[in-house]
Amino acid sequence: MTAASPYVLVLYYSRSGATATMAKQLAEGVESVGGIQARLRCVPPVSATCEAVEEEIPAEGAVYADLDDLRHCSGLALGSPTRFGNMAAPLKYFLDSTSPLWLNGALIDKPACAFTSTASLHGGQESTLLSMLIPLLHHGMVYAGLPYSETDLIETDSGGTPYGASHLAGARSDRAVDARERKLCVAQGRRLARLALALEGMRSSNA
Ligand SMILES: Cc1cc2nc3c(=O)[nH]c(=O)nc-3n(C[C@H](O)[C@H](O)[C@H](O)COP(=O)(O)O)c2cc1C
Repeated sequence: MTAASPYVLVLYYSRSGATATMAKQLAEGVESVGGIQARLRCVPPVSATCEAVEEEIPAEGAVYADLDDLRHCSGLALGSPTRFGNMAAPLKYFLDSTSPLWLNGALIDKPACAFTSTASLHGGQESTLLSMLIPLLHHGMVYAGLPYSETDLIETDSGGTPYGASHLAGARSDRAVDARERKLCVAQGRRLARLALALEGMRSSNA
């Protein structure tokens, strides 16, 4: 990938791995579209000790995101476990560091989507996805949910919402992403990649 190649940033936080699995499936959907790639990045946990500093490279999984990953993306897929019906603090902490991008309008007219994982079916998937949408709108991004032409949205008895892909992980975090949830993750990545290319064209013709 060259520095100028368009990419969708798949940015997530995950503690027990469910959101990380979904992130890889979204990335698969992105990469099923020609001419654009997926860049997987995560954010570190936050600590109650204000001076605590994480190692620069995580022990496993995707590397940590920096602001340039976000600045130069053509689209953003944002993933978080549900925490009391809301996004997890580490992701919010990272988003709170993005004012330089907001000041420059770096994310205006770029497409974005959100995905989440919960322990229980009615534990707040939709509210979490909507909470993740709010900062994206402040950045001027174009939010893309999932359309009902994805018929798994109607047939699912686990995760999958029109607000974005979701997963029911179970109380012990031991329920694997099922076939319908996975299809919706891939569909969401694919849709985002197509929108990213279309809006990239729109932005360059307006420039
Ligand atoms: C502090 C905390 C709050 C949580 N709040 C909720 C919740 O509101 N609803 C729910 O269904 N699950 C909740 N969970 C469970 C996680 O959302 C769930 O285990 C998720 O699948 C974890 O994703 P991960 O494997 O990517 O870390 C919570 C977990 C923690 C630690």
